[in-house]
Amino acid sequence: MLLVSSRLKSIRPSQTKATAARAAALKAEGKDIVSLSLGEPDFETPAHIAEAGIRAIREGKTHYTAVAGITPLREAIRQKFLRDNNLDYSLDQITVGCGAKQVVFDALYASLEPGEEVIVPTPCWVSYPDMVRLAGGEPVLVECLGDEGFKLKPESLEAAITPRTKWLMLNSPSNPTGAVYSRDDLGALAEVLRRHPQVHILSDDIYEKLVFGEARFATMASVAPDLFHRTVTINGVSKASAMTGWRVGYGAGPIELIKAMNVIQGQTTSHTSSISQHAAIEAISGDQSYIAEFKAEFEKRRDLVIGKINTAPGLSCRTPDGAFYAFVNCTGIIGRRGANAKGIETDSDFALYLLDEVGVAVVPGSGFLASPYIRISYASAMEELTDACDRIVAACTRLAEEKAA
Ligand SMILES: Cc1ncc(COP(=O)(O)O)c(C=O)c1O
Repeated sequence: MLLVSSRLKSIRPSQTKATAARAAALKAEGKDIVSLSLGEPDFETPAHIAEAGIRAIREGKTHYTAVAGITPLREAIRQKFLRDNNLDYSLDQITVGCGAKQVVFDALYASLEPGEEVIVPTPCWVSYPDMVRLAGGEPVLVECLGDEGFKLKPESLEAAITPRTKWLMLNSPSNPTGAVYSRDDLGALAEVLRRHPQVHILSDDIYEKLVFGEARFATMASVAPDLFHRTVTINGVSKASAMTGWRVGYGAGPIELIKAMNVIQGQTTSHTSSISQHAAIEAISGDQSYIAEFKAEFEKRRDLVIGKINTAPGLSCRTPDGAFYAFVNCTGIIGRRGANAKGIETDSDFALYLLDEVGVAVVPGSGFLASPYIRISYASAMEELTDACDRIVAACTRLAEEKAA
């Protein structure tokens, strides 16, 4: 008898974490490694938010809480949805979990019957397809091309829908591409969804606050109010407030689904940390000025990275409108031969080449179900990014020379 269940057979460990682990191991050996692989801001949690957490400890707010989260936090979230998204949820339509990750999983687990389908536009966040499988569903991957801004087209959505389709996953700004869906983009998808009432929408808005330049954030439940009752809107404090370790995410949607999600949480984690919940109230309702500072810094870094990467022979990258990732096309590198004479046949080979040859850790596009690409996270200081990009450019220049020789 096997100790590990057969359910786990089709699930892979997260590739972002695997690359980071390899980079950490090389670093531990004393190698000079720059890691651009992780999906978290490098900023400290703003002091006023951290203080709210410390105050919660001092005041003894260290006990079990309600499964859905403490009322003042859910009230703060209710106000946030009204203020930022023009969405009017009641308190019992809101649940708080251990990061947006758990909220996405609970929504899928609470709703999917075996074999029901979830449309996942790719490139996508590593976890979506595996979460769908864990919940007993079938991910239906729909490719979104770089030339089309990595966004799902209405006709591709229409073609992917079947009578078994339960969910469409939307993630804007996107990890890994940084693509941002405009109101018009969402409006065009809503037109299709109206014809298919069995399809619900899971809108993962975790990068909402990181949108640059002319681009504007939009979310389905507010663009298409008639789809409000079919939509779960998910967000959290990890990315906007540099609070990845605090583990606070939240979701809002149809009451019966939120109730079912609370049952799952009640029988698994119970709730996220009481201390984190108190800090999250401050993150959502307190002084928000730090967000503009984070955003301005990310935008500067984006411009630096895109500028440098586009000078590397064999690489090209469109300027992303949001999040903190550059999703770099490396078609021009495939087929080249490194100094170690090993051929680079895939984006994973290229990512390993960069790690071994110039000490830069990135994530191969295959981890996001799109090849050949690499994802560069620009959530690092400018000096580090400059150094890392210079190394990548040098590596690509060498590869081009090797080929020419
Ligand atoms: C698209 C997307 N959704 C959700 C999450 C999870 O965020 P949290 O830290 O709130 O669980 C991430 C984190 O990488 C993400 O990239």
